[in-house]
Amino acid sequence: MNADPAKRAHAPADLRGFLRDLEAADPGALITVEREVDPEFELSAVVKALEPYGAPAVRFERVKGGGMPVVAGLYGTRRRIALALGKDVGEVVGFALDAIRHPIPASPVASAPVHEVVERGEAVDLTTLPFGVHSRDDAGRYITSGVTLARDQETGKLNTGMYRMMVLDRNHISVNAAPDHDLGRIISRAAERGEDVPIAIVIGHHPAYAIGSQLKHGTDVDSHEVTGALLGRPLDVVQGVSVDLQVPAYAEIVLEGVIHARDLVQEGPFGEFTYYYGAARAPRCTITAVTRRADALFNDLHPTHAEHRCLWLFPGREARLLEAVRASVPTVRDVRIPFHGGSLSAYISIEKRHEADGRQALLAAFSRDHFLKHVVVVDPDVDVFDDREVLWALNVRFQADRDLVRLDHAKGIKMDPSATRLGSADRPDVVTAKLGFDATKPVTTAFPERADLVPPGFDHLDLAEYLDTATSARLGSFARVATAVSE
Ligand SMILES: Cc1cc2nc3c(=O)[nH]c(=O)nc-3n(C[C@H](O)[C@H](O)[C@H](O)COP(=O)(O)O)c2cc1C
Repeated sequence: MNADPAKRAHAPADLRGFLRDLEAADPGALITVEREVDPEFELSAVVKALEPYGAPAVRFERVKGGGMPVVAGLYGTRRRIALALGKDVGEVVGFALDAIRHPIPASPVASAPVHEVVERGEAVDLTTLPFGVHSRDDAGRYITSGVTLARDQETGKLNTGMYRMMVLDRNHISVNAAPDHDLGRIISRAAERGEDVPIAIVIGHHPAYAIGSQLKHGTDVDSHEVTGALLGRPLDVVQGVSVDLQVPAYAEIVLEGVIHARDLVQEGPFGEFTYYYGAARAPRCTITAVTRRADALFNDLHPTHAEHRCLWLFPGREARLLEAVRASVPTVRDVRIPFHGGSLSAYISIEKRHEADGRQALLAAFSRDHFLKHVVVVDPDVDVFDDREVLWALNVRFQADRDLVRLDHAKGIKMDPSATRLGSADRPDVVTAKLGFDATKPVTTAFPERADLVPPGFDHLDLAEYLDTATSARLGSFARVATAVSE
């Protein structure tokens, strides 16, 4: 899928094309719901109920009050993200790092499908779009799949990211960008200068657009150029109708607007990735235009669940982590930020050459990713993608009095309620304690080899030869579900 460069060079990269490719490559990965659903809770409930069955993407044909179909659950698995990039899962992190190093400039076009319908000024009415309400205590409708596009004032480069955005009224939203993220910094600088920030919000595009927005590169690199590298061809862009930004020509919907950097409003509660509700003072944004395709396909993203965590961590944060650890311990093998750990833990495998390589890897991880709170380093014979393996290593290769690294009063995140709270409501600040577990074997002293406990003949055993047909079939369907729910 999309792996053939000749094919990728011709078809425009967009959401509808990706869905066609997805159905062809992995038929069970896209499910269609014909029955009418309410974007308030019901749509999310269906996506959540399907999550144990491989977190499929879901196309809802009829959505109350929205006037357009909605696709949700797009980014639910590592495999789907890999498919979108035309890679195998194991290649994705390296490919992403390569894309940052070899950006491809965008290609401006004069007219574009995303401008088939244009509503500006007074005609803008966000209440006509099917923005969802997702978790029980959410304060209202949120834009969850929107990729923000803004220009960094200092480098002039375009920056993309994803942030929770609450719909305030017909033409206003709030934009909650943490101060450590690039958009947060762009907004803070604008606030100091008393300026607004022109912005575009892209809803529904080829997954490479959102995946690219999660890659942790500096603001000296242009996000549209990195997206081009992920696509293997220039991203087609067109001049915005009310802001001086070049927006993706083949997007389904683009909202244009200006963020009023000093005009803070209360937003939230909103169910978040650590499984707590978040709320904040965030800048207000006026939407100056809504542009879209005539037959636009809306994209909702189910926050806090599989697709939110998968899209954020893979390859974005895992790629940054791998790069940081590699700079310190070149023999690093794999990194994983488990999706179910609120994104605050990581597992790293290294081929240890020096006794302190494990600690070195821990320090590199903590210094590069301030979300990380508990990091485990293991030897390469331990599969970091299998929690059971990591727990085994922790129990039989780790001693707390010798192999534990503790960092007190380090940088934490607001969304961890156990962190120590400092600062004020308007300028919240938190510190946290971190633990690093060096569960690697020593290299300077002898250590027992892992036992080979496999009965001879096991590797070539065919269970079908021992079971009746009905039992074999039942085991087959168990296996399919087990594979589907694993990360
Ligand atoms: C679905 C989704 C929602 C997100 N929501 C927020 C958010 O509300 N606030 C925030 O600061 N970061 C949020 N993030 C994380 C940022 O989008 C991400 O870290 C991004 O890389 C930041 O951009 P930057 O690398 O240019 O700093 C979200 C990520 C995803 C995938």
